[in-house]
Amino acid sequence: MVGILVAAGLGGSMGTLVWKPVAPGVWQAQVGRRDLPTLMTAAGGTPAKVGLEGLGRGLAADSGSSGMAAGGFASARIPIEPSEKIYGLGLQMHGLNRRDGIYRLRVDHYSSGNERLHAPVPLYVSSRGYAVLFDTSRPITVSVGIGNQRGAPNPPARDRNTDPAWDAQPFSGAVEASVQGPGLTIYWFEGPTPMQAVQRYNLFCGGGAMPPRWALGFWHRTPSLADQNAVSSEVSEFEKRGFPIDVIGLEPGWQSSSYPCTFEWSAKRFPNPGRFVKDMSVKGVRVNLWTNPYVSEKSPIYEALEGHFGSHMVWLGAVPDMMQPAAQKTLTDYFQNEHLRIGVSGYKIDEVDGFDNWLWPDHAAFPSGLSGVQMRQVYGLLWQRTLEDLYRKEGRRSFGLVRGSNAGSSRFPYAIYSDTYDHREYLTGMISTGFAGVLWCAEARDAANGEEWVRRMQTAAVSHIAQLNAWASGTKPWSFPGFEDAVRSAMRLRIQLVPYLYTAFAKYHFEGLPVIRPMALVDGGQEMDQFLLGDDLLAAPMLTGQRSRKVRLPKGRWFDFHTGVLVGSGETIEVQPGLETIPLFVRDGALIPALPTGVKNASYGESEPFEVRRYGAAHARGWLYDDDGTSFAYEQGAYAMRELQVGTDGALVSNLKSGKPSLGGRKLNLRAMGGT
Ligand code: GAL
Repeated sequence: MVGILVAAGLGGSMGTLVWKPVAPGVWQAQVGRRDLPTLMTAAGGTPAKVGLEGLGRGLAADSGSSGMAAGGFASARIPIEPSEKIYGLGLQMHGLNRRDGIYRLRVDHYSSGNERLHAPVPLYVSSRGYAVLFDTSRPITVSVGIGNQRGAPNPPARDRNTDPAWDAQPFSGAVEASVQGPGLTIYWFEGPTPMQAVQRYNLFCGGGAMPPRWALGFWHRTPSLADQNAVSSEVSEFEKRGFPIDVIGLEPGWQSSSYPCTFEWSAKRFPNPGRFVKDMSVKGVRVNLWTNPYVSEKSPIYEALEGHFGSHMVWLGAVPDMMQPAAQKTLTDYFQNEHLRIGVSGYKIDEVDGFDNWLWPDHAAFPSGLSGVQMRQVYGLLWQRTLEDLYRKEGRRSFGLVRGSNAGSSRFPYAIYSDTYDHREYLTGMISTGFAGVLWCAEARDAANGEEWVRRMQTAAVSHIAQLNAWASGTKPWSFPGFEDAVRSAMRLRIQLVPYLYTAFAKYHFEGLPVIRPMALVDGGQEMDQFLLGDDLLAAPMLTGQRSRKVRLPKGRWFDFHTGVLVGSGETIEVQPGLETIPLFVRDGALIPALPTGVKNASYGESEPFEVRRYGAAHARGWLYDDDGTSFAYEQGAYAMRELQVGTDGALVSNLKSGKPSLGGRKLNLRAMGGT
């Protein structure tokens, strides 16, 4: 039983929210009727009990919260303090501060400067150390700090004629959210810190996604109409020129017809897909398939899906109702037989965000009874869930891309991408994922010049997924003469970091700790262009045209990742990295597990030795996670999370902290980077 606020009907008044504990440090309240599906029920995760129990406790749900269901609206009001900072409300590409504004959250294709969001997760995080989720599949309006209610503790009214302190937006004392619908479910996540509130949210969703290890290597998407020979020679060219490659992404041309899509291999361009995927896997390269989910009449499964389509089409493709198990089964049986069986590693699910002018309208009807407006909020979630279940049945991990998502998706192995291409916005987007429980692919597509190409590839290299998406441009890593080496070193750095990143993802999975951490979660900083990557690396990517940039170092000493030189201590520094360099800094006393230079890609073997880079203090500490890299056996304990330590005697010791001792026995070579 959930806490139910029996709110008044038409003309009703605010009632106090009744919060019920639903997991350690997680509270739920209900305004009006339970309005299914919610985002969380659509995503379908099971809270990660062990992780949740491992977190401390924080500020309990605010007993001053209230709600109302009346006149076709359901709303909730959660008090905030004047000095409280609010972050989050989805994958946002502009700024991080969400105080004193109104946010209309609706799944849409992001375009610069407006409120359209690929992942409008209605979760906000407070500097006071808690987070709140409005769990609804309706578009939601969230007013933060503005919009005064009668009877609330408002500031005194001022006379505009005489009082210079008159304010057009008097502080409302609350976050107020409303949907047009019969009810609204609300969750409160305790901290005690803002970071722990985020962790609790991610764990409540089921824990962060655990990618297969190969997914942390380098991805490349070929031009739309490339055939299997063109793709194979492109992969060979990567190898010949010494560029790493782990995943090759095929764009619309692999299908016999698109879009609308058939999901069927093109007999002309890919006459022998089984052989093609196998040849790729022999080279250690996985194949990822683009699709949008809108079905062509020419598709072999069109007829079987009849009766399960929505009323409207997208680019003349029928829209399968993903709330219906029969539709899911027809699709996944076909995908299993035609794609997974021959080794396809995952999908890029395109266009589930949609612009209004091509997605179905709000009034569209679906056989499951969902309206178009609700289906739009959950469609990306339903696809991720269906495909994740499919790979899970196969017993192997997948990783893919998706263009629309929402709350509850932390556990899904999908990174969001966009057709927009502003480098600074990409950086902000990447950082804001830390407040939204989603992943972001800051892909490189093309560039106006060599410098931009290098800087784009460098940002891609420190993104959740490192990808070159050349579907339209055909750009290669070596396309800009004179800049090839700089691009190669960014891509190789990415490969070197795989053991460290894999450990960071394990912490996302088991502890809910975001891989990319906004400074606001680390130490309350407000920077939108630097972030913590995992526990110990501070990344401050460069944009085109920048010759130098400021980096604020959190408390303690920090070292240059590349040279081991001490750069400062709890201060703001100015750095002038050459074009070859991504500004990366390491916390004092950190041990960074890395691959030695020269390892080809992320598909390294179980016996590949690691380098443990040691920075700073005499007593150094770090973490190393390892498992088989591909299966779900880690969920049954087949993994090793080791704590690494170097004491004053200079010897590296590793202690198993969780998992099974038989794993993770690879050789570790300590490499002193300086600074003790
Ligand atoms: C777009 C997508 C691009 C590319 C293209 C292929 O919708 O954002 O990344 O896949 O479709 O036609």
